[in-house]
Amino acid sequence: MGTVTAAPTEVPAKGDEDIVIRVAHLQNSFGDQVVHKDVNLEVRRGEILGVVGGSGTGKSVLMRSIIGLQQSDSGTITVLGEEVATLDAEAAKDLRRRWGVLFQGGALFSSLTVAENIEAPMREFFHLDQTLMDEIASYKIAMVGLPEIAGPKFPSELSGGMRKRAGLARALALDPDLLFLDEPTAGLDPIGAAAFDELIKGMRDTLGLTVFLITHDLDTLYAICDRVAVLGDGVMLKVGTIPELMEFDHPWVREYFSGPRGRAAAATDATTPKATQADRDAARALEAGEGAVGAEATTAGTGATGTGTAEDED
Ligand SMILES: Nc1ncnc2c1ncn2[C@@H]1O[C@H](COP(=O)(O)OP(=O)(O)OP(=O)(O)O)[C@@H](O)[C@H]1O
Ligand SMILES: [Mg+2]
Repeated sequence: MGTVTAAPTEVPAKGDEDIVIRVAHLQNSFGDQVVHKDVNLEVRRGEILGVVGGSGTGKSVLMRSIIGLQQSDSGTITVLGEEVATLDAEAAKDLRRRWGVLFQGGALFSSLTVAENIEAPMREFFHLDQTLMDEIASYKIAMVGLPEIAGPKFPSELSGGMRKRAGLARALALDPDLLFLDEPTAGLDPIGAAAFDELIKGMRDTLGLTVFLITHDLDTLYAICDRVAVLGDGVMLKVGTIPELMEFDHPWVREYFSGPRGRAAAATDATTPKATQADRDAARALEAGEGAVGAEATTAGTGATGTGTAEDED
């Protein structure tokens, strides 16, 4: 990726109450490797913000920083009005209760059933009666479109798409205000990925959630994201709508949105006026032959956490 100076995050002035996540001058490095030089980002209440960037640019590290799993070198992160790094244990726990996380790779506890996985955050944060927890778990299972029989199954007994839904059900266990999703559609077939996109959008629309969504999936960006943030060269290169990004002159961004996959995704999006028949044919060819776009999931070592969302891969 070429050298580019940090573009300011072009978010119109908004009242603080409308900014759910604010990242300012974030720096992260591992030994000599600088991952984030100066990352700035604001996520607005009720939006689905897509986060894209090449593999290894630090998308998952950014998410982990925001949810307090990654101690940063410098910078400030405010979530729901609280500065994450300054909170005492009690206040941090109160804040964690207000968000749900789906880690890259699903991250269900393999030794627990789906229902028990969904109940894990309830056990951590509340003392609820087992019958009530079972009822809530059943409700969440239905909410994400899983059959009732998924509840007593172990993650290894589910398909990849079902595991994603189970992970989402667990992220929703505590009725969060904010949802963090790391590559939710990676590895799903195009139809399963589209259904998952619709599920997330439907939840945002009905529950008023704010969604921070890391993805490589161009179809997801077109289908459900209000704005997209592009991470690269250690900074947020640009934050804006897809048409705004398409005008942005940066080699990676140009290649991403205007390469064959970008054109194909644009072609299947009814709102994109410039789609040609060739683009639509390319889109169909991709769907027929290549499976989900850009499913290059790596298992970043997110480590077990106190949030009841340990990265215990199944
Ligand atoms: N705990 C860690 N220790 C050392 N290096 C790490 C750690 N976590 C992440 N990194 C490094 O930080 C960089 C960014 O990693 P990250 O997982 O955030 O990438 P990503 O943008 O999410 O990539 P992908 O699209 O492949 O998921 C990588 O080079 C990775 O090796
Ligand atoms: Mg990642």
